[in-house]
Amino acid sequence: MVMGAAVELSVADSMTRGGHEQVVFVADAAVGLRAIIAVHSTALGPSLGGIRFWHYPGERDALADVLRLSEAMSLKAAAAGLHQGGGKAVVLWDDQHQFRSEAFLRVLGRAIDELGGRYIAAEDVGATPADMNGLALETRWVTGVDGPGGSGDPSPVTAVGVLAAMRAAARELDGDPSLAGRRVVVQGAGHVGAHLVELLVDAGASVGVADIDRERVDALVRARGVDALAVETVLEEECDVLAPCALGGAFTAETVLRLRCRAIVGAANNQLADSSVDDALVACGIVYAPDFVANAGGIINIAEEFVGYDPRRALTRAAEIEETTARVFALARELGVAPGRAAETMARRRITEEGGGRRWRPGDPAAWTRGEPLRTLRPGVAPAKAV
Ligand code: NAI
Repeated sequence: MVMGAAVELSVADSMTRGGHEQVVFVADAAVGLRAIIAVHSTALGPSLGGIRFWHYPGERDALADVLRLSEAMSLKAAAAGLHQGGGKAVVLWDDQHQFRSEAFLRVLGRAIDELGGRYIAAEDVGATPADMNGLALETRWVTGVDGPGGSGDPSPVTAVGVLAAMRAAARELDGDPSLAGRRVVVQGAGHVGAHLVELLVDAGASVGVADIDRERVDALVRARGVDALAVETVLEEECDVLAPCALGGAFTAETVLRLRCRAIVGAANNQLADSSVDDALVACGIVYAPDFVANAGGIINIAEEFVGYDPRRALTRAAEIEETTARVFALARELGVAPGRAAETMARRRITEEGGGRRWRPGDPAAWTRGEPLRTLRPGVAPAKAV
């Protein structure tokens, strides 16, 4: 969660090292708000990223987290071919069960509004649609609000994107993208995992599932005839594709040695404990579809809100992740590096070459406004009314 190196540096030095454009500290004693908004890059368009409500040991930890997460959002958006940059907000929030008042959300909403669209908010860990509705009382620059034009639960679109990345991995394995007859093991049958299982069964795959919530697995066993697997050993199952759809950090240099899959393609964020695992997977002959490429369906879904949400267009764009993942594998071969590194290179190249050092300013047109100044998200839709 926390990037150690940046904690020792000053704010400006940390920003310089990571290439961050802007960091805004927000504090309001009356409502008890302490938050940091980081805009990493707006070279490709306004920055988008979730708001995380989290218990941080201290302010420096929160700063390190927001810097790391906002940079990751830039890479994710750039790799997905989106015309937007990366940003993130963290709120120092000690008690995850504590109610957030309208006054609290309004202060945060005003701080976001002051950035004029340079930072567009979304949900992240600890946030709810009610939070987004509260922010929307003060700013247009928020996604995930209830009502017309909202993109709703991104999980089905994320699952379509993961399936698309799996097809690219299957082709990388033996030239055939079809998943029919392949053994796929899914860790985590939550929002994304359950949808993915459905898609895999429909595609003719033989599917095994494990979840610490046994009821979720049983429901899929009953409905779709998949195999229930043990949570403790699921990562060591023999299969064509292993799909981590639970929490991050599933793979370490040590656990990689016990894997019996041919490819890893899943929805979880930060699947590799560190970048050396990327190389370890190559050494083991396992094809790894980088997590931020495979799970970009969620951000692709949100981006569709900018122009008026259309679920079919979101699904079509998520399916394009197959082509993006194939390009990552091709670049990895060309550069002689592991896929995770290749994906990062691909994203950074796009930010540099297409972004050309630009900084998006409030009122500038965005890629989706046909040359008009960007005045709002969800054009033609009335703002949310209540928290
Ligand atoms: P979720 O919370 O609905 O599902 C996670 C599932 O994993 C739960 O059913 C939980 O019981 C299970 N689980 C937790 N630890 C486990 C373990 N050790 N072994 C087996 N199962 C375990 O979350 P969701 O939304 O499905 O997301 C899954 C992952 O994908 C997360 O890492 C999330 O950050 C990431 N992600 C999700 C997106 C989305 O659209 N929902 C978009 C991009 C990334």
